[in-house]
Amino acid sequence: MILVTGGTGLVGSHLLYHLLLENESVRAIHQKNSDLNAVKRVFQFYGPHTDSLFNKIRWVEAGLNDIPALEKAFENVKSVYHCAAIISFDSKDYHKMRRVNIHGTTNIVNLCISSQVDKLCFVSSVAAIENGTEGELMDETDNWNNATDKSDYAITKYGAEMEVWRASQEGIPVVIVNPGVILGSGFWHKGSGTLFSNVQKGLKFYTEGITGFVGVQDVVKIMIQLMTSTLTNERFLLVSENLSYKNVLFMIADALGKQQPKVRINKLIGACVWRMEYLRSRLTLSTPLLTKYTAKSAISNHPYTAEKIRNELNFEFEPIKSAIERVAGNINS
Ligand SMILES: NC(=O)c1ccc[n+]([C@@H]2O[C@H](COP(=O)([O-])OP(=O)(O)OC[C@H]3O[C@@H](n4cnc5c(N)ncnc54)[C@H](OP(=O)(O)O)[C@@H]3O)[C@@H](O)[C@H]2O)c1
Repeated sequence: MILVTGGTGLVGSHLLYHLLLENESVRAIHQKNSDLNAVKRVFQFYGPHTDSLFNKIRWVEAGLNDIPALEKAFENVKSVYHCAAIISFDSKDYHKMRRVNIHGTTNIVNLCISSQVDKLCFVSSVAAIENGTEGELMDETDNWNNATDKSDYAITKYGAEMEVWRASQEGIPVVIVNPGVILGSGFWHKGSGTLFSNVQKGLKFYTEGITGFVGVQDVVKIMIQLMTSTLTNERFLLVSENLSYKNVLFMIADALGKQQPKVRINKLIGACVWRMEYLRSRLTLSTPLLTKYTAKSAISNHPYTAEKIRNELNFEFEPIKSAIERVAGNINS
């Protein structure tokens, strides 16, 4: 039995589809208010007759901090894909992120150890890779430096990685993937999905920062291949291409048949806007549209190399243009 956490999110839902396609027995945890229909809709992007696959998922209600419920979810589990996390760049979410991303991973790791699972795959992020000099190509050996300024999200993903390395020290084989910005169908209202929904609504602004992008199908295919491989106790950057946000937003606009954004946001404007957004969000008790760290990442140049995974699995990433065209095709369906 395979256990998936975060199955109601972007990565987890696509992962569930690919695991079930391979006839695996899959149990997935969900929270009380999780939207299971969102997962069903993701399955439908793959084809019209996917309800039977969706119906094979054994759902168990369990939050990452609910140990008795997690213990039940772990019964007879042999391998674990840990995708669940909170992704936020709003400083008011820091403690919630610590509780879920770090302490939740502690719980998953403890149960992996006590159940002696065969292997654990953890979805980390490029956020847990140290960013060096602007423009310098980063790889898996670029280790965390506490002295540099980090987002709260990055701190919690790094903290979670430390928990996963503890599992490996306790004898559990682990693999960690560090994807760049993941592009995939479904969940247009949050995370990277908003790149599509904002362009669809007529987004006017773009920035020229560069980062790594990857399609969700590549992410989950690699996770499955890593879990069935003999590779253990390694982390792997997952990036198809390093592109500017301008480039990606223009590709999305073209794929959606919308106007390309026209107004460039530079460092100075970004710095003003995130400060104004901070004040607005605190006064109106709402989520800021831009934060210090989203503004910073939108204008900085941080490319990554995925040579390690390309060589280990002989993996060919899907070009980002093709991933964007598929996602754009699904947004109106
Ligand atoms: N999206 C990206 O661009 C990106 C890039 C790099 C790395 N990652 C990493 O990839 C992983 C998956 O991201 P995603 O994009 O799929 O995120 P997502 O769509 O926001 O999904 C997050 C998942 O975590 C679950 N979750 C959150 N808090 C939980 C809790 N307390 N207990 C149990 N489940 C909880 C959510 O459940 P509900 O449905 O109940 O909320 C949801 O299933 C994360 O670890 C993220 O850090 C994402």
